[in-house]
Amino acid sequence: MSETIFALSNGYIGIRGGFEERMGGNESRSIDGIYLNGFYESVPIPHAETGYGYALNTQTMLNVTNSKLIELYLEGEQFNLTRGTIIEYKRFLDMKNGCLHRNLVWRSPEGREVEIKARRVVPFAHRHLVAFEYRVKALNFSGKVIISSYLDGAVENHVHEEDDPRFSAALGGLGLKVKRIIADEEPVIMLQETQRSKLTLVCAMDHSLKDGPGAVKEISRDDHSVAVNYYFDLNEGETVGLEKYASYYTSLDYQVADLAGLASEMVTRGRAIGFNVLLEEQQGHLEKLWETASFGIDGDTALDQALRFNIFHLFQAAGSNGRTGIGAKGLTSEGYDGHYFWDTEIYMIPFYAAIMPEEARKLLEYRYSILDSARERARVLDHPRGALYAWRTIAGEEGSSYYPAGTAQYHINAAVAYAINKYIEMTGDYSLVLEFGAEIIFETARLWKDLGAYIQRKGNRFCYNEVTGPDEYTALVNNNFYTNLMAQWHLDYAYETACNLRDNYPDQYKRLAEKIDLDQKELQAWKQAADDMFIPFDGDLQIHPQDDGFLDKEPWDFAGTPSERYPLLLHYHPLVIYRYQVCKQPDVILAHFLLNDRFSLDQKCRDYNYYEPITTHDSSLSPSIFGVMASELGFYEDARWFFDLSARLDLDNCLKDTHFGVHMANMAGSWMNLVYGFAGMRTTGGSLSFKPYLPEGWKGYRFGVRFKGSRLKVEIKGREAVYSLSDGEPLSFQHRDKEIFLAGGEKVVLSLD
Ligand code: BGC
Repeated sequence: MSETIFALSNGYIGIRGGFEERMGGNESRSIDGIYLNGFYESVPIPHAETGYGYALNTQTMLNVTNSKLIELYLEGEQFNLTRGTIIEYKRFLDMKNGCLHRNLVWRSPEGREVEIKARRVVPFAHRHLVAFEYRVKALNFSGKVIISSYLDGAVENHVHEEDDPRFSAALGGLGLKVKRIIADEEPVIMLQETQRSKLTLVCAMDHSLKDGPGAVKEISRDDHSVAVNYYFDLNEGETVGLEKYASYYTSLDYQVADLAGLASEMVTRGRAIGFNVLLEEQQGHLEKLWETASFGIDGDTALDQALRFNIFHLFQAAGSNGRTGIGAKGLTSEGYDGHYFWDTEIYMIPFYAAIMPEEARKLLEYRYSILDSARERARVLDHPRGALYAWRTIAGEEGSSYYPAGTAQYHINAAVAYAINKYIEMTGDYSLVLEFGAEIIFETARLWKDLGAYIQRKGNRFCYNEVTGPDEYTALVNNNFYTNLMAQWHLDYAYETACNLRDNYPDQYKRLAEKIDLDQKELQAWKQAADDMFIPFDGDLQIHPQDDGFLDKEPWDFAGTPSERYPLLLHYHPLVIYRYQVCKQPDVILAHFLLNDRFSLDQKCRDYNYYEPITTHDSSLSPSIFGVMASELGFYEDARWFFDLSARLDLDNCLKDTHFGVHMANMAGSWMNLVYGFAGMRTTGGSLSFKPYLPEGWKGYRFGVRFKGSRLKVEIKGREAVYSLSDGEPLSFQHRDKEIFLAGGEKVVLSLD
């Protein structure tokens, strides 16, 4: 799991925190990998019993050329931590400059002692580059030392572990194939191809030798790897330092004929810039982000560390190109095949919109780039118009093999529209709607209209049958509360957006209406469906049932379920789970958070008290949302418990699956837990408000947000809240019930009482 924790990424290249050298020994537990965002193989889904419209292929993010491999030999003895003696060892991640360090002193079985200092960085400023530094000092011997630095093309994805559905599809021999190695001189180049998706990848490497005695260099190769070998005579006390640069380019972004040239130019440039300067650049980039996030918890170091770690991973995950999304595990492992889910829109976009709005916009551009695939998917599901986003995907095609908990989660359409609205609420940047957002909003709203029906026995209300809400422990139900509510919101939003465009941007509206064949009658039908939406409510219990049949089910026997049978999904057939009142994650409660102003506090409280005790939180998407709502409802102990769990979920491996990669949605959720939970931030209708409180035992906490171009810092200290506006336009917001107006450079101190 530490390979996950120490994974580095720049949103394009992701590299797990494994060692430079091959491990040997108990290697099978170690998942090594380098991934490129959006680079995949299309893997057939083996359905023994298939059905019309089942997803036929899933896209799997590939483990690509291993450029991290460096082997060291001391007078013929190969350095390997599973042999000899480890005298000193420290691995740490510097979140200020994004550098991963490993410092160690090792005694070989024959008694030679070396100090090794390895560092690596994946530069944001050069998205196709990764840089390594490898320094070796002879401590008690003089002799012949060899450093061999590789590009290894014999890479595979890792196979299913213990049949855990959260890992990835078995590739079954569909790994990358080495097509060509160019190794006459440096930079050396390896060209590889995927077998089915027919994508080409080129990886180049170059080196620069720092310090130490002159070396003899020799390039060696076989069919699937190439090494640059350095031979030194090292004296006791002397150090050699090798800098290694590797670069990746693929046919997803460039012409195949250009890839080798681009990759070799990139490593040559990396080498000219040098490792230390790359690190300085990285620090400069991260400093700006840390300054915006302006984060800190005073009075709890473990939580402060944990949230910083989560924020760091969010900084690392965004691809910044409008062509890629963020996988459920970022680029930290192969878990969930590297697929993008609704996690990005509902959990992560609020973070990016507040800290890195440009990234939020790029993520939404990615959704636009796959709108045609969503249109195709809608046709397969018998909708003559509109678009249905794939539940899980990389390039747009539905990759979920289990439709009850996959394609049936139609709510992904609302998630995308909701994220567009969230982005606009936070940034005020309506150009996104004009450029491409409206087309997404309308096409996905169309699906809602087509999917639902007026049902006589439901008072002729507009209903959705056979859908799955966010809670994956219940599937294929009628009138899932979350789905109906979000569809209603989406249809209203689409109607309002269309009216606004028609009235205020007539040219753009006309062009789009012609393109997608939209008329007034259809707009009216959206509005009508939203007005007539069936929203489940139980008069006896005064709560919102999760769906039509939920309350008729037997409650799950929590008292009789031993702790080792959690998560339930690994120990019970789905049919067993579906038969009971038991939730994996928030459904009704998530709707309360997202459409916060639609429910009274009493109602939210009743629903929370009903659903929290029957929720297992087996999904990492659960604790943060319960945490935010617990804060709003004044359940401070719950709020703190959920926050602690959410904040440290990966660092402490709370779900025992961090080796599959970090939980990106939860990482963003933990930030929301603090900002939306403890500080009570809301942005409903584009108005900013806070209702902060200080969790027990803390001295204070702080965070920054960008709101409509202004940068606001919020600091809670003891019984006071301090708001300061560092730059940008004057800002008005609410602190509790008080209207506050701040001009640039101003600050205000207010009481929490
Ligand atoms: C959750 C989904 C989520 C997916 C990817 C599942 O366990 O139930 O809501 O989208 O993980 O994170």
